Amino acid sequence: MTVIAETALQEEIRDLARRRDAVILAHNYQLPEIQDVADYVGDSLGLSREAAATDADTIAFCGVHFMAETAAILSPEKTVLLPDLDAGCSLADSITADQLRAWKAENPGAIVVSYVNTTAAVKAESDYCCTSGNAKAVIEAIPADREILFLPDMHLGMWLERVTGRKLRLWLGECHVHAGIRPGDVERWQSEAPDAELLVHPECGCASQCMAFGNGRTHVLSTEGMIRFAQGSPKSRFLVATETGIIHRLQKEAPGKSFEAVSERAVCRFMKMTTLGKLRDCLRDGKHVVTVPDDVAAKARGAIDRMVAIG
Ligand code: 13P
Ligand code: SF4
Repeated sequence: MTVIAETALQEEIRDLARRRDAVILAHNYQLPEIQDVADYVGDSLGLSREAAATDADTIAFCGVHFMAETAAILSPEKTVLLPDLDAGCSLADSITADQLRAWKAENPGAIVVSYVNTTAAVKAESDYCCTSGNAKAVIEAIPADREILFLPDMHLGMWLERVTGRKLRLWLGECHVHAGIRPGDVERWQSEAPDAELLVHPECGCASQCMAFGNGRTHVLSTEGMIRFAQGSPKSRFLVATETGIIHRLQKEAPGKSFEAVSERAVCRFMKMTTLGKLRDCLRDGKHVVTVPDDVAAKARGAIDRMVAIG
């Protein structure tokens, strides 16, 4: 698409959003042209907070399905639209509500902490929800003598064990994008870019090992945490171990600094399903509406409210 055609489509989207009284929310992994047309770009925690606080009638969610479900639970009176219903998440799909019920039955009395990358039905079976932005604070808010079932991301879980000193029971799920960033990718960059700071998402399989570098220039952060860190750091070169969509946001928010992906293969095809054309159609035609059954939403809301409140 030419720049002129892209700009025209973005103007049409802004106009449709105004007419529908819609706010456009976009995750940090979205395509650059989607980030540029959004009202708010952020991580899972920030997007949930925006969805809960907005006055708009409609939320057009440029992200994946579980994020739109979370917005629908937090703002039941709003219409939540997802431009492509196939935008799922392999991590969220790694545990079902039935599997969680069976796991709970094997561990009676344990507290269930679910990462936000889960279906609404799984959240409904959970005591707490968390994102990478507040997972440590959520674990620390739970009394030390309580057993915790943490799901579904085992790498985030292992990192939490390291930073909190708590033993957690972990579900063995992973995000295929972050698991694909190998320790070798990070080590290679560490040796090739000794002047750079390394920003690592805790969903990476290598997050716990990276902490062992103990070199003061390795930082395990949520996507929004990476933005804040880069803005505040006196350093000018950063290596980034997460989905590559974040690079566009980093370049915008911390201009003049250099950001390089440790793995160009770290691309989430679900996040990239949202295109300007689909976003335009979504706002023009009011599709696809994401809803959560009232009984599931009522059960999930407690865990999500705790997530939004902590950290
Ligand atoms: P955050 O943006 O909350 O760090 O999450 C990353 C992610 O993988 C979302 O799918
Ligand atoms: Fe899910 Fe991984 Fe894609 Fe995030 S990057 S939406 S966790 S598959």
